[in-house]
Amino acid sequence: MTDERILKAYEQERRRILELEEKIVCDRHNPVFGEGSARARIMLIGEAPGKFEAMEGRPFVGKAGKQLDELLESVGVERNELFITNAVKYRPMKPDSQKGANRTPTLAEIKAALSVLAVEIECVRPCVVVTLGNTPLTAVSLLWGEKVPKIGDAHGRCIEHGTHKLFPLYHPASAIYNMALLDVMKDDIIKLNYVIKELL
Ligand code: URA
Repeated sequence: MTDERILKAYEQERRRILELEEKIVCDRHNPVFGEGSARARIMLIGEAPGKFEAMEGRPFVGKAGKQLDELLESVGVERNELFITNAVKYRPMKPDSQKGANRTPTLAEIKAALSVLAVEIECVRPCVVVTLGNTPLTAVSLLWGEKVPKIGDAHGRCIEHGTHKLFPLYHPASAIYNMALLDVMKDDIIKLNYVIKELL
């Protein structure tokens, strides 16, 4: 992926992250940027990197990555056909007192990262943007000036925005905590499969 505009946006984002206030607890030295084909027809947007993503500098390589691979396999899509990124490019962490575990990015963090996400979408121009969970759904809705829906209302259907198509899914990790979601996610993936087949 060599698009100059994306690389420039990543460089600016890297600098912005390094300058964040100390009180924002995050892994500021190991940002994780998008990966994949700049000509991908499907862009997949996750929440934010976790520990393993920050260590490897690649999105979705940890446990959530394994779940994502299973999800992709079920729709017959290879990773190299996609552009995969996250709404927030650094790992948001709980304070050391709470063992420095992952945390959900705040709305302020999502908003601050919107400009780099905008460049990624503008450059790749995917036929469909697939968001995983509430965080990237919030980011994309804000970016497109849409009311931010709840994932529980928006999942599993294609939302048209001008020339863009958005297909919200639950985050693959949510099925770990809520087994009932697993069947819902399977249904959503079948629907996504139809959308993708029409595009490819
Ligand atoms: N890893 C990522 O890169 N993104 C997520 O949303 C979760 C895990």
